[in-house]
Formats: sequence, structure tokens, C-alpha cells
Amino acid sequence: MSKELIENINKELENKSTQEVISYFLTKFKNVALSSSLAAEDQVLTDVILKQDKNATIFTLDTGRLHPETYDVMDATNLKYGVKIDVFFPNSEKVQELYQTQGVNGQYESIENRKNCCNIRKIEPLKRALKNVEVWITGLRAAQSITRVDMPLVEWDENFKVIKVNPLINWSEKDVWDYIKENRVPYNKLHDKGFPSIGCAPCTRAIKEGEDIRAGRWWWENPEHKECGLHKK
Ligand code: ADX
Ligand code: SF4
Repeated sequence: MSKELIENINKELENKSTQEVISYFLTKFKNVALSSSLAAEDQVLTDVILKQDKNATIFTLDTGRLHPETYDVMDATNLKYGVKIDVFFPNSEKVQELYQTQGVNGQYESIENRKNCCNIRKIEPLKRALKNVEVWITGLRAAQSITRVDMPLVEWDENFKVIKVNPLINWSEKDVWDYIKENRVPYNKLHDKGFPSIGCAPCTRAIKEGEDIRAGRWWWENPEHKECGLHKK
């Protein structure tokens, strides 16, 4: 994929609505997939996408360490839209090895351990999920993190060799919640309990008032380390 082509797509879609951006990719490409963590942003995109195409591909990476509330919203979403979100699990032998080498909660002990866990539970399954995908849609927002401020609407992802589209890149948190309320989109109940950002249960905590929205993710690490490798530059 040439840089020029990506630049042209970005220019073409610059002032388009999120619905128009989604429609552009659903109509122009065959293999388009949304990766959903089932958090608020991904629920917005699920609603936008399924309203355009009931058979669109949506997948989640079930790390084996998700919160019960995350499974509840997966279930509610499948029921509401009459779909079955695809689920990718980690390789079971690798998870057994991980347990043998660093125990149940080794991720707290070093960044290396934490990255091993993310690699086995998220990155390898994501590679499998994106194997035949041309366009990868995510729920990333620039305002979420210092590591995300420069992310464009459309980019070439060299790690996974796909066109990566971030349709909510310029949305605020308020935009997300206004959409969810107006469209009665099912959402993860942890959002009502102080969790603006939701990942795996052992690596996500509620935040206190005034804290950064990603302060509850890998809270024992520095902000610049707080990407699990799904969204490298
Ligand atoms: S993370 O890298 O810190 O875990 P974050 O939770 O902010 O990412 O989510 C950003 C985007 O990554 C989501 O909108 C979604 O597209 C993708 N994503 C994150 N976690 C998962 C998951 N478990 N399954 C599928 N996609 C995910
Ligand atoms: Fe493992 Fe935590 Fe990464 Fe989940 S977020 S894969 S539990 S280190």
C-alpha cells in the first residue's frame, strides 16, 4: 500500500461523518473487520457498522482474563443485533507455558513479563484475526493518551500489514456517551463504576476523580509504556 494512496484516502475522508467513513470502507473493500474490546468506543462503532451491514465482521480478543461485565455486554450485543461477534482465544499451549514460567500474575513483576502476557493473550490472536483482513477498524481516540495524539484517521499498519482506520479519532468522550445514549447502545457496566477504559481484569482498575482516563490501565507502569503492542507506531 503506497503512502500516497493512504494520504489520498485521508484527504477524501477529511470532512466526512463517521457513518460516511464506515460506508466508504464497507463498499470499497471486501475484507473489513472491527476489533472490539467491548468498551464504549467499540460499542459505538458496532452500532454504526451493523446498521449498515448486518453481516459485517466484528471480532474480540478473549484473553481469558476479561471482566464478567465484558462478557455480559458481549452477550447483550449479540442479542440486540442478532449477531455473533467472532472470538479469538490465545493458543492454549502458550498460556500453559506462560503460567509455568511466570505464574498467574507475573505481569506485575516486570514490563517484560507483562509484555509476554500481552503477546500471548492479545498480539498473536490479533495476528490470526487479521490474517485475511484488508481494513482493520479500531475505536482509538486521540484524546485517550499521549501515545495516541498523532494518530491519523487512516494509516498503513506495518506490523499487521493492513490499512488501519480509526473512525473515532477526533471524537471526545462526551461524543461517545451522547451517541450511546441517543442510540440505546448496550455498554459495559464497568463504565458506571469508574472505569473509562477497560482491558483485562488484573490490569485495569477504576480511576479516581481528576485522574487521566487511562490511569487505571497497567497503573503500576509509566504512561509511555502503557501500550500493549496492539497499537504500535
Ligand atoms: S489497548 O491497546 O490499550 O488494550 P484500548 O483498550 O485502548 O487498547 O482499545 C483501543 C482499540 O484496540 C479498541 O477500540 C479495539 O479496536 C482494540 N482492542 C483493544 N482490546 C481489544 C480486544 N480485547 N479485542 C479486540 N480489540 C481490542
Ligand atoms: Fe496479560 Fe494484563 Fe496484557 Fe491482559 S492486559 S494480556 S492480563 S498483561
